[in-house]
Amino acid sequence: MIYLAPVQGITDRIYRNIFPVYFKGVDIAIAPFIPSVKKMKPENNLLRELHPANNTGIPSIPQIMSTNPDDFTLLANTLYDMGCGTINWNLGCPFPMVVKKGRGAGMLCYPDRIESFLTKALPGLKPKLSIKLRIGLTYPEEVLELIPIFNRYPLEELIIHPRTGKQMYEGKVDLDMFEQCLNLSKHRVVYNGDIDSARKFEMLTKRFGSIDRWMIGRGLLANPFLAEEIKFHTEKPYAEKIKIFRAFHDQLFDEYSKILYGPAHITNKMKEIWTYMAGFFENGAKIRKKINKTHHRDNYIDIVNKIFSET
Ligand SMILES: Cc1cc2nc3c(=O)[nH]c(=O)nc-3n(C[C@H](O)[C@H](O)[C@H](O)COP(=O)(O)O)c2cc1C
Repeated sequence: MIYLAPVQGITDRIYRNIFPVYFKGVDIAIAPFIPSVKKMKPENNLLRELHPANNTGIPSIPQIMSTNPDDFTLLANTLYDMGCGTINWNLGCPFPMVVKKGRGAGMLCYPDRIESFLTKALPGLKPKLSIKLRIGLTYPEEVLELIPIFNRYPLEELIIHPRTGKQMYEGKVDLDMFEQCLNLSKHRVVYNGDIDSARKFEMLTKRFGSIDRWMIGRGLLANPFLAEEIKFHTEKPYAEKIKIFRAFHDQLFDEYSKILYGPAHITNKMKEIWTYMAGFFENGAKIRKKINKTHHRDNYIDIVNKIFSET
């Protein structure tokens, strides 16, 4: 099974709904995190984004970031009542503002807090609980204290990105530490991190034969054909891929244009997407630069037309 990773600002409801119209192979997505704020009304925008009725593309699991078990359970149960059978808890976000508050990856160095959170949150929790984590905040060994704790609770799965929070998105993934987690965990483990080609995927499957669930983020954003290339061992001709890629882009642009008013809003949104999408092209860095210079819708469309006609 292939999971689309949550990427805040990119893999939102619109992206997840349009994606499978053009690309095959992705089975499930974890949505980017929402905070567990007290008393969210059902008409709240964040909840509407996650309502199964509005998620007709890739089946999506909501993700919550929280250090407060009561707030977490309240929000998770609201989502369950909306039809979400599984909820994911974010223990991986490495951004300083989040970490400083002891959230996301900032909780990984406090095993006692994690244990207490699970003890309080699980008894009243209606949906199944899945957890997405890094292997530590500062040291990879931090995870070795956490897995035995997770083993004591009924969890759906652990999605492990084997980097520390301190590493952000740099440096190598720690495959040896991932292997230790795999050996220690009683729960199903999903691998996540740096899968950006079918070749890399093959290498990982050779090393981790027992894993049958893989999460891909940036690799899929840059090459949305990656999941089908991995699963079906086929690669479409480049010209055909470009055509499909263009159609995907155009539909994203149309859908975002409907909800983002003002020339800067839509171009800013598209710039964010191109940060990753430009990786599809050999001259990605140059393309990214060109896109970043656009400030108006018409100017943006001109540049995009040029990019696609030159490839
Ligand atoms: C801009 C950005 C936003 C992200 N937002 C989230 C998020 O909301 N929740 C989460 O669990 N992970 C988030 N991630 C982490 C990814 O889901 C994933 O774990 C990470 O990118 C490693 O996988 P990859 O190498 O396949 O991209 C984010 C990553 C990036 C680059």
